[in-house]
Order: sequence, then structure tokens, then C-alpha cells
Amino acid sequence: MASAVMSLRRAAAAAVACVLALGAAAQLTPMFYDGSCPSLQSIVRSGMAAAVQQEPRMGASILRLFFHDCFVQGCDASVLLDDSPTLTGEKNAGPNANSLRGYEVIDSIKSQVEAACPGVVSCADILALAARDGVNLLSGPTWAVPLGRRDTRTASQAAANSNLPSPSSSAAALVSAFASKGLDSRDLVALSGAHTVGSARCASFRSRVYNDSNINAGFAAKRRQICQPQAGATDGNLAPLDALSPVRFDNGYFRNVVSQFGLLHSDQELFGGGQVDGVTAQYARNGAAHARDFVTAMIKMGNISPLTGSSGEIRANCRKPN
Ligand code: HEM
Ligand SMILES: *[C@@H]1O[C@H](CO)[C@@H](O)[C@H](O)[C@H]1NC(C)=O
Repeated sequence: MASAVMSLRRAAAAAVACVLALGAAAQLTPMFYDGSCPSLQSIVRSGMAAAVQQEPRMGASILRLFFHDCFVQGCDASVLLDDSPTLTGEKNAGPNANSLRGYEVIDSIKSQVEAACPGVVSCADILALAARDGVNLLSGPTWAVPLGRRDTRTASQAAANSNLPSPSSSAAALVSAFASKGLDSRDLVALSGAHTVGSARCASFRSRVYNDSNINAGFAAKRRQICQPQAGATDGNLAPLDALSPVRFDNGYFRNVVSQFGLLHSDQELFGGGQVDGVTAQYARNGAAHARDFVTAMIKMGNISPLTGSSGEIRANCRKPN
């Protein structure tokens, strides 16, 4: 009797230990650096506050950098690696070249974090915190960011070219690109709400403003004024993704999309085709519902295949492996 109870207890303890061990391998936690780098959150916050004060768009640029990190090999800071004779990075992939920005802001925050806690905090976690702070500094929500990611020693330009959705994508292609990262169609719509801040280049919206028919006519005409129909000198001209409030993280993006003011073809795909219209309309009516779902989806996106435990490394310089 006593020995049967003991063996049951042992089995239960073993099961608990097993669950803990499995959890420890993959589980991120907001408390990860509480003991090893207590000043981390305030260093990232003040670095982002300075950057956003100098140029509000930077809050948007850093948010996009995090998305482009997580969708390529997971949230492992692969996007931050420079090209070198021994490594082809992701910075010159189609969706990133002449477009992604904010690398210097992450470098500056990283050097302050290294001064306070050398060799402790990954570039991948700094980027996750900086993206959260960028959103919040532009009047968006805030949340506790799960931490404990480590940095990759490799990058993949090919994966950056194939995994990042294009602005010419259909709704079905967007749903499938997100599904392949474990994100559902509600996450897709919630995360697309990031296009309530920041800008796009003429090269990204040219075919939309010249060739799409589901676009407000006056809006299209106005955008055509800064974007010639042929590739060339105007390729880099910028327009706000949400002209209502380009540096305010609100639900203006969805109010635009339901009125055919989406700047990218992919934006307008979220309303009018049927597939995700209901969610888009809900967020256009209810900004608080969007903010809640955005936070949930950001945490999910931040959980895409992180390196944890003894995988990867804590990079000393975000631009190169140790
Ligand atoms: C749904 C699929 C998506 C597509 C097709 C897409 C595509 C694009 C494109 C083409 C641009 C303009 C780039 C340029 O012209 O230089 C852009 C900008 C931006 N994207 Fe996305 N994006 C998507 C999802 C997301 C997600 C999930 C986020 C973040 C959670 C995000 C955040 C941003 C931000 C903040 C900007 C403005 C960046 C700046 O001003 O520097 N995007 N996106
Ligand atoms: C519009 O569509 C036509 C026909 O497909 C194409 O030849 C043209 O290059 C497109 N224009 C733009 C600006 O995308």
C-alpha cells in the first residue's frame, strides 16, 4: 500500500518534471532578465523615446523590423545581420532593400544594454521590446513582452524573399502566409493594423493607384501625383499608410480600408473580398477590440520559433555573429 502510494507520487513528480522541462525549452517569460538585467526595460524605453521624439515614424519602422525578423527563421535577430564575406544577410532581400530601417536605433540601444549588462541580453529580445515601445510611444497599447530569445548565427535571404508577404498579395495568399507561421486570419487582420502608422514607397503602391478599381478615385488621383506610372525617379516617394493619422497607433487603418482608402493592394484585400471582411469591419467600429487583439497577435508572432536554452548565442554586436 505504502509503496503503491510512493510509486504513484514518483510517477506524478516525474510527469511534472517532464512538463517543466518541455516548457523550459520553448517558453518565453516577461521576467527572464529580472535578475540578470534589471535596467533592461528602462534602457530600451528611453532609447525608443529619444528615437521617436526625433522622428515619430521610427516607432513604425522598428515595429516592421520585428515583423520581418519573426517571419524569417523565427524571432532570432536574423534580420539584423549585415552581409559579410562569409554570410549573406536578409537586408538586401526584395522586401527589405531600400525599405527596412531603424538598424542604427537598435545598435544604439544594444550598446547601452551591453554597458549595463554585458553579454546577457539578446538582440532578438531588444527588438521585441523596442517594437512594443514603438507602438506605445505612438499612443498604442502596451503589454508585457515574453523574453528569453537567443540570437541566430545564420540568416536566409532566400527565406526573406519567400516568407514575407508582398503588397500585391491576394487575401488568400495573406491568410496562407500567416497560417504557415501559425497565425490565423484574425491575427492577420489584427497585425495588419500596424499599417495605421508609417509610410510606403511609390514602388509599393504604384500598381494599386494606377490599376486597382476598388480604390477611392480622388485618393488614387492624389497618390498618382507623387508616383509616376513607370519605375524610376519617383520610386522612393513616400505616402502615409494611414493618411488620417500617420503617426498615431489607432484604428484609422481599418476605417480607411472599409472606405477603399487602403494604400497597398494587400491592405484593400482585407475588405471587399469576403474572406476576412467581418473582422476588418469590427476593428473599424471598435478600436479597443483591435488594440486587444493586436496585443494577443503580437505575443503570438513573437513566439515564432525562438532560439532558447543553449541554442544560438547572445550576440555582442547585433550586426554580426560573435
Ligand atoms: C499582411 C501582410 C503585409 C504586407 C504585404 C506588408 C507590406 C508592407 C509594405 C509593402 C510596406 C511599405 C514598404 C516600403 O514601401 O518601403 C509596409 C510598411 C510597413 N509595415 Fe507592413 N506588411 C504586412 C504586414 C505587416 C505587419 C504584420 C506589420 C507589423 C506588425 C507591419 C508593419 C509595417 C509598418 C509599421 C510599416 C511602415 C514602416 C515605416 O514607415 O518605416 N506590416 N508593409
Ligand atoms: C497596369 O496594368 C497593365 C496591364 O496589366 C500593365 O501593363 C501596367 O504596367 C500596369 N501599370 C502599373 C502602374 O502597374
